[in-house]
Amino acid sequence: MPDSVTITDNRTGESVEVPIVNGGIDADHWNKLLPGIWFLDPGFGSTASTESAITELDGANGILRYRGYPIEQLAEQSTFLEVCYLLLNGELPDKSQLDQWTHDITHHTFIHENMRKRFYEGFHYDAHPMGMLVSAIAALSTFYPEAKDIEDRENRFIQINRLISKVPTLAAMAYRASIGMPFVFPDNNLTYAENFLSMMWRVAEPSYEPDPVLARAMDVLFMLHADHEQNCSTTAMRVIGSAHADPYSAAAGATAGLYGPRHGGANEAVIQMLRDIGSYDDIPAFIESVKAGEGRLMGFGHRVYKAYDPRARIVKNQADEVFKITGRNPLLDIALKLEEIALSDDYFKSRNLYPNVDFYTGLIYQAMNFPMDMFTVLFAIGRMPGWLSHWNEAVDQGVRISRPRQVYTGPAERNYVPISER
Ligand code: CMC
Repeated sequence: MPDSVTITDNRTGESVEVPIVNGGIDADHWNKLLPGIWFLDPGFGSTASTESAITELDGANGILRYRGYPIEQLAEQSTFLEVCYLLLNGELPDKSQLDQWTHDITHHTFIHENMRKRFYEGFHYDAHPMGMLVSAIAALSTFYPEAKDIEDRENRFIQINRLISKVPTLAAMAYRASIGMPFVFPDNNLTYAENFLSMMWRVAEPSYEPDPVLARAMDVLFMLHADHEQNCSTTAMRVIGSAHADPYSAAAGATAGLYGPRHGGANEAVIQMLRDIGSYDDIPAFIESVKAGEGRLMGFGHRVYKAYDPRARIVKNQADEVFKITGRNPLLDIALKLEEIALSDDYFKSRNLYPNVDFYTGLIYQAMNFPMDMFTVLFAIGRMPGWLSHWNEAVDQGVRISRPRQVYTGPAERNYVPISER
């Protein structure tokens, strides 16, 4: 049997045989046979928007690999900065490459004083940190106008370095601004995750010493979020990048996409849901209300995973380690029971709805004292290398500007009616 599909235009009897390559067919064949006939695919359920060599996601079998390396092995043995290097460059670094990369990231964590003194102070006292982060990332483009030169690969990597270095600083500043605490400057003696925790929590101590278990948990969570192929925010990054916008502007757009409760905002929504449920006894009634269409079970379901999200399993194990230090999050019992009931219920089973990465991350963040409105910010720090890897790959590919078509369903031509006659 040939590995191909045949498309026939029944109006003319013309057909074209299209080879299936890497699990996809080239839409160009369709366009040539059927000009002006568009695939109607809202939400891109059947559309591969690009070829990519970064992340492999097999949703049916619960497999996630960065550049071929299973997420389980990376979470167990690697570090976030090593994973950033891997995603961006395609290979794990050797010792000297990793040392250089770590040095470069560590020494670009400071931001312009105008950002701190004028920009952040301009926000309202109760501004959401995600709103601040989106704006702050966009504002960076005004400090680095040379970022517009995206054709120069070396210049691209300078901006990539800056974004990965500075996003924890911007994130921690958003938090400190929201609680009226002075900003903490980056500490170059700390690792990436430790430095972020220091900028979040340091008060008057001469140097901040984070608990190694919590710093490792933070690093692992960043790794788990580092990439997830063509999700909503990454697609936003690639689409904006295809217009040749600078990477700060594109990353601000991606961060805005992440903000939504169906995407990165779900971790916050999970805690809200667990709080609203309140007690064990109320779980069955809550499940029934979800089944009746009165809301969604947040932290469950995924467009691509139709099996247990492999990241959720790793997060669940991390939670055990974190709770040994912080004490058990009281909402954990409700979460575990909710998962048990949902996984044995036909509604969820028949729709392949399993816990996703967001179901347990919020519990860890909460136990580590992060306020709920910082949860998605943590996701954004982790996802930055993924966004940038895809942006860089797309520029290397020389992709055309993203410009999908539509199937028009509005009125046919009609004449303007003066307001007095309407
Ligand atoms: N609770 C209850 N029912 C659900 C849920 C849920 N969480 N998710 C999907 N369904 C139902 C949905 O009602 C539909 O049922 P029916 O066929 O009877 O109409 C069916 O399952 C298919 O749903 P869909 O909306 O077509 O699925 P989707 O692929 O468009 O949406 C999703 C994926 C993640 C947006 C959705 O599952 C959801 O809203 N989940 C809750 C939010 C969440 O946890 N998001 C985090 C995603 S993972 C992290 C990330 O990548 O951002």
